[in-house]
Amino acid sequence: MQYNIAVIPGDGIGPEIITEARKVLDRIGTKYGHSFLYTEVLMGGVSIDATGVPLTDEALEIAKNSDSVLLGAVGGNVGQSNWYSLPPNLRPEAGLLAIRKGLNLFANIRPAILFDELKGACPLKDEIIGGGFDFVVMRELTGGLYFGERKTVEENGIRKATDTLVYDENEIRRIAKWAFEIAMKRNKKVCSVDKANVLDSSRLWRQITKEVAKDYPEVELSDMLVDNCAMQLVKDPRQFDVILTENMFGDILSDEASMITGSIGMLASASLGDTKLGLYEPSHGSAPDIAGQNKANPIATILSAAMMLRYSFDLEQEADQIEAAVKAVLKKGYRTVDIMSEGMRLVGTKEMGDLIVSEL
Ligand code: NAD
Ligand code: IPM
Ligand code: MN
Repeated sequence: MQYNIAVIPGDGIGPEIITEARKVLDRIGTKYGHSFLYTEVLMGGVSIDATGVPLTDEALEIAKNSDSVLLGAVGGNVGQSNWYSLPPNLRPEAGLLAIRKGLNLFANIRPAILFDELKGACPLKDEIIGGGFDFVVMRELTGGLYFGERKTVEENGIRKATDTLVYDENEIRRIAKWAFEIAMKRNKKVCSVDKANVLDSSRLWRQITKEVAKDYPEVELSDMLVDNCAMQLVKDPRQFDVILTENMFGDILSDEASMITGSIGMLASASLGDTKLGLYEPSHGSAPDIAGQNKANPIATILSAAMMLRYSFDLEQEADQIEAAVKAVLKKGYRTVDIMSEGMRLVGTKEMGDLIVSEL
């Protein structure tokens, strides 16, 4: 089969980690007889430099017409860029929000799995980690504070900024359904995380989630306030199976979840909607502090490519193979600097990619 993939390297470490993910995909292609055709698309700072905007209509069109999108990361104060002196809607991150919205990718799945091999890199105590944990954060991605009206005004010499958090019941229902569907394939537990003790949008979130739960009697639904959830993630992460939450809470909780898997460099993600077209990207950013130094961990991006094979192309076996190859390399003791621990072998971005390819 032939698959058309729009590839967005982006900024900072983006191009470095994308190169490694492509190597892995190419190896899978050769091994299983698939051809992955890549169309490179500009987004973020590199697009601003080339076109003046973070995402052109043409770039979005290419993404829309592809079978899936693979993204590195965008943004960061890289080199001599003056991206952050531009109006907010012309900055690198605006491109990312525009592509998510433009492709209607409202469901962001971020799996937090502690590999046995990385227990040494997890900052939690052994008695908390136990036999490890495996949960997913299901983050709503096209609503909430990120897409509400915002403005900054000056009234009587006082500067005032407003952001609005809006969800309608349909937006909540469709993401809740995704969470229950995923839970059905896992351990059948959904923990819906909100701030219903304060926010109206959270109270509606809870109500709708309970309604959706009626269609999934096998799934156990619980609610948790977001501040408590932030604490429970480090107190007892093993309690979670699927964490369902709104856009901004999901952004914050997924970075926390990434760190207890050893590093943000380990957390993959899939952004999905109503069709097979998905966007696959690591949960981390462009890491300008280590860009161009062959230090970035490419595993989150490589595992995101595996999610692409699974969710967009239904290539389950191929996805399993990539995950197994990652585990095998970790088992042999190879580590990028972010997951390095005593007695392990330090390697760079490129070497980690090569090692994973050599397991395939
Ligand atoms: P970041 O995730 O880029 O970096 C946070 C820290 O984690 C840094 O110390 C970085 O070196 C480290 N890190 C991140 N990814 C790593 C990897 N693969 N391997 C090893 N270490 C890694 O977050 P930030 O510094 O807050 O943001 C930098 C820029 O990235 C900002 O402009 C932000 O808006 C953008 N960003 C983009 C995306 C995206 O494109 N999806 C996601 C998050 C942040
Ligand atoms: C992420 C990032 C983005 C987000 C930023 C760069 C807009 O932090 O993908 O987690 O908040 O969604
Ligand atoms: Mn984030």
